[in-house]
Amino acid sequence: MKRILFAAAACLLSIAAKADEGMWLPSLISQRIADMQEKGFRLSAEDIYDINQASLKDAVVLFGRGCTGELVSPEGLLITNHHCGYGQIQKHSSVEHDYLRDGFWAMTRDEELPNKGLTVSFLERMEDVTPLILKGVTDKMSEAERVKIVSKNSEALMDKVEKEGKGIRATVEALYYGNQYFLFVYREYQDVRLVGAPPSSIGKFGGETDNWMWPRHTGDFSIFRIYADKDNNPAPYSKDNVPYSPKKYFKISTAGIHEGDFTFIYGFPGRTQEYIHSDAVKYIQDTGDPHKIMLRTKRLEIMNRYMGESQKVRIQYSAKKASVANAWKKWQGEVKGLKKMKTPSVKKQYEEKFENWAAGTQYEGITKRLAGLYGELEPLQFVYDYYSEAIMACELLKYAPKACKVDDKTGLIDRDATKETAEAFFKDYHMPVDKETFTAMMTEFDRNVPEDSKPAYFRKQMLEYGSAQAWAEALFSTSVFTSLEKVTGLSDIVVEDPALELVSHVNEWIAPVRTKIREINQQLQLAYRDYMRGQMEFAEAAEGAAGRNAFYPDANLTLRVAYGHIKGYSPADGAYYLPSSTIKGIMEKDNPEIFDYNIPQRLRDIYAAKDYGRWADESGEVPVCFIATNHTTGGNSGSPVINADGNLIGLNFDRVWEGTMSDIVFDPDKCRNIALDIRYVLFTIEKLAGATHLIDEMTLVD
Ligand code: ARG
Ligand code: ASP
Repeated sequence: MKRILFAAAACLLSIAAKADEGMWLPSLISQRIADMQEKGFRLSAEDIYDINQASLKDAVVLFGRGCTGELVSPEGLLITNHHCGYGQIQKHSSVEHDYLRDGFWAMTRDEELPNKGLTVSFLERMEDVTPLILKGVTDKMSEAERVKIVSKNSEALMDKVEKEGKGIRATVEALYYGNQYFLFVYREYQDVRLVGAPPSSIGKFGGETDNWMWPRHTGDFSIFRIYADKDNNPAPYSKDNVPYSPKKYFKISTAGIHEGDFTFIYGFPGRTQEYIHSDAVKYIQDTGDPHKIMLRTKRLEIMNRYMGESQKVRIQYSAKKASVANAWKKWQGEVKGLKKMKTPSVKKQYEEKFENWAAGTQYEGITKRLAGLYGELEPLQFVYDYYSEAIMACELLKYAPKACKVDDKTGLIDRDATKETAEAFFKDYHMPVDKETFTAMMTEFDRNVPEDSKPAYFRKQMLEYGSAQAWAEALFSTSVFTSLEKVTGLSDIVVEDPALELVSHVNEWIAPVRTKIREINQQLQLAYRDYMRGQMEFAEAAEGAAGRNAFYPDANLTLRVAYGHIKGYSPADGAYYLPSSTIKGIMEKDNPEIFDYNIPQRLRDIYAAKDYGRWADESGEVPVCFIATNHTTGGNSGSPVINADGNLIGLNFDRVWEGTMSDIVFDPDKCRNIALDIRYVLFTIEKLAGATHLIDEMTLVD
């Protein structure tokens, strides 16, 4: 009887990692290294992660706060995606110097452009600090008390570690819902300069049309350089800083790639939720994603219309639009994938098996507890989604409360600081876009949020003005925060303004919702902590040690290793996609009439003359992108794609549309990461940009 139950359980253990699923902790990679080597990897665990000598981890950085980058030269040269450097490229752009449109190449070090606020972080070390962090925590404690102790212990540890040296930044992160805690120690560099970016017609080729899709032909890369003080330590921007000398940088393989080749990705995946309850998935699939998609469709329609009419607005809104469009499209793929995988019902069946196994143990009833908590959470989450996706979509409402800067000493308005913030905001602000967005968002808010969940102020305004549009007219014509002239002309701190009034009512209304959500989330954390352990024990009971070892912690923007191999896939019945693309595909898509597909004339000429230099593959074409089975997510953008010998073969930048549900459930048949072939990067630098001095800094191996 027991045997049968376990056998049945085993087939349902789709919850634990299979095939190439998984994002593994580098410091524990020795547990996976045998499997990696069996699949073709030729290096050791210490080559990947070592704290006593240089290892591959020393060539990987967290770029900004949500991308990955890697070192490719002894002089601090770093590659990441075009879309990761997009904000910086955009900030340096104007109608006169349109680097988004035309690209940018520093031909000398003096021309490299500094980027205020941009940092890169190297992981120095990571360690399990669970006992230290849980010191003083008891089983009897409420979750809120536990949270307090955990954060107090974490802070004390981080403070201590940050005294170790210049630029040291420490974080303590929970793994497996707080069953484990790890300390991550980073060295953060603040002087990171833009060195090169191809024009968007290469770096963003295919635009939103091709985003999240295969076959792909996007040259999604940009190049930066890290600067340090004379002792190679982190320092704020200074003319006297010198190029950073890395402990390790990647050699670049120009040997080419083939289906079946081992690949390995080293980077900072942001967030996954692989172990959540079926009701959580159901909410995402049936409610959360569809509403958010609908709201963003409206916003995009407005932005697109204005951007099509003016180059100025196109520059102003290009980065904003890319970020709105990106999640919008991913959610659509995610909903499709979840439905195709029947994830809610597969998870539900798993939960039943789990409860059968858990009867009489400390885990009994835990999936019901989770279901109960989701019952409470969902209506609140829905309201919160409308707060963040509809109300907060209005730029004016985000800007107004931060517009007036106060001089700490006098308590009066600090006109210089106010002006500086205003100039940054209005450089990229077009009021008509915002006003229409406000109108559309308030209309949807009114239509979809249950009456008794709306703020009283909202109902009053709608009643008074009769429509969102009339309200918008009044708001945008009377608020002082809608133009640079008005804001820079202020002599006093503004306390009364319709935008501020609205924000303050919104804040008052959302605060208790937020508190309630936080309380429920704490209870969910508590329940998941047990459920997580329960799932591992259940797997172990059914499959032994292999069952347990298949668990990996959800992504949380900490450094991870994902390994797999280059592989095509079948997107639908009757179709099969090859794993790589070439310049031929760019020419097939090329169309001067379509913004997303209008390539530089120079590329057309190179193609016509077949002037590929050393960058053609065996077929005689320049390789562009490839796909592989590595498990990745947002944050992995810019990650190095590494071959069996530890050399760089590509730059990760996306996933395929049919596989974007991999943040929740991984389908080995459909989930593929998309990478830029490093040879296309080199080709672009040499043939299009003529920036061969950069290639000379790198180490190429054949
Ligand atoms: N989909 C990729 C990622 O999630 C790339 C996004 C940037 N490209 C774009 N067309 N918006 O970030
Ligand atoms: N494009 C993503 C990023 O920016 C990667 C992904 O979601 O696959 O990190």
